[in-house]
Amino acid sequence: MTRLLVLQGPNLNLLGTREPEIYGTRTLDEIHAGIAARAAELGLEVDTFQSNHEGALIDRLQVRDFDAAIVNAAGLTHTSVSLRDALLAIDRPFWEVHLSDPWKRDAFRQVNFLHDIAAGSFAGMGELGYHRALEAIAEWFEARR
Ligand code: DQA
Repeated sequence: MTRLLVLQGPNLNLLGTREPEIYGTRTLDEIHAGIAARAAELGLEVDTFQSNHEGALIDRLQVRDFDAAIVNAAGLTHTSVSLRDALLAIDRPFWEVHLSDPWKRDAFRQVNFLHDIAAGSFAGMGELGYHRALEAIAEWFEARR
């Protein structure tokens, strides 16, 4: 079975109450429950990990106990060379997800250290972006069987 890691960056633990006009009212636990349900339908095994700490996210990636990842690096998307390096080093395809569309927001969010090395990106679709990423991953591995 294809094993997935869903990696969630800083402040995403506050979803539900964090700027709901931008990020919606669903909590991270609710979003993860939806991901687990869709992953089960697609025959994917999924683990989720959220941290507010760059090093903890990198340590989790380096465990390499997954075949592909879905990464919402949150603010680290726009700042972290180290997270980019980790994603390159582990040699696993990853799909980038953002609840909002950073490309349509502040100028500093136009800097993106992950976009060009992601296998695909979903932004501005809210929670649905994670589901689209799951579907893309299922198709990706199906095509390579
Ligand atoms: C985000 C977008 C980022 O710019 C922001 O820093 C976040 C969340 C999103 O999911 O829309 O924390 O990744």
